[in-house]
Amino acid sequence: MTTKDNILIYLKENEGNWVSGELLSSRLQISRAAISKQVRKLKEDGYRIETSTKKGYLLQDRSDLLLAQEIQEGLKTRIFGKKELICFKETDSTNIQAKILAAAHAPEGTMVAAETQTLGLGRKKRTWFAPAGDGIYASLILRPVIAPEQASRITLTAAVAVAEALISITRLAVQIKWPNDILINGKKAAGILTEISTEMDSIDHVIVGLGINVNTAKDTFPAELREKATSIFIETGQPFSRIAILKAYLEHFECYYNMLQKTGFAEISNRWKALSNVTGKYIAVQTIAKKYFGHMVDIDSDGALLLKDSRGKIHRIVSGDLSVK
Ligand code: BTN
Repeated sequence: MTTKDNILIYLKENEGNWVSGELLSSRLQISRAAISKQVRKLKEDGYRIETSTKKGYLLQDRSDLLLAQEIQEGLKTRIFGKKELICFKETDSTNIQAKILAAAHAPEGTMVAAETQTLGLGRKKRTWFAPAGDGIYASLILRPVIAPEQASRITLTAAVAVAEALISITRLAVQIKWPNDILINGKKAAGILTEISTEMDSIDHVIVGLGINVNTAKDTFPAELREKATSIFIETGQPFSRIAILKAYLEHFECYYNMLQKTGFAEISNRWKALSNVTGKYIAVQTIAKKYFGHMVDIDSDGALLLKDSRGKIHRIVSGDLSVK
């Protein structure tokens, strides 16, 4: 643990109260100038710390910054977010950065997070709106021992983890739209972008990128998203801790990911169907090749969608854009 981390611990223990430079200097056995230098660094990280030559230092509020020490404090996972954890104030895309790390052999569980992205990527070459400080933008590196054709299982597992994490913290009615849109009251609150790197017939790594609109106000969204997108703040009228949500996601996801590898997809698939807003409904799915219409009957053991058309024929769809008719 660094001196900066130790200072932060003292300030947090005395949150809302002044801590003198003298006390910090004697507890940590370093000069007051060194304390002041580390406090400056904490401020650069984004912590709101008041300084007074007479009174010392005051941490003004519990930070909700996406910083490694905040995310890892009390995080109940074994590897997700516990290995390498890189947090940017700004980056192009956490998925792009995670891919670079994965290609350089970063271990499973490595995570990249950012306060904002300049090139946030969505599915189907769309962009992901990522206003600074409002949302969660994070990508995990996984190295699952499964066949490439089963990779959709990972996306669906992540969607279940996001939905359950959000339900546990916000108590909102969160639903999943195949394959990985997270909806609240029919509007999109979060999205998952899974990118796979394969080698022959095995998976080298999977990047699971998650964007959640947490504290985004309605007028922060660009006009074209306002009717389609929502946030936890819009749905509840109150701000939520991004750190608490991110931790809950990592804990749920690691638990389901272990289950997937040990006992298979059946239970996760049942959870997914219970959370899905489309099971049994009449839907349209636009794939690269064509548009399908029919009732969604199920998802199969690889996470593909099974659609029954008006003639009773079942179509197995691996990827596409779904709308409920
Ligand atoms: C979707 O289109 O629904 C998927 C959106 C995924 C957005 C997240 S934000 C963090 C990660 N980095 C990216 O560039 N995209 C994903």
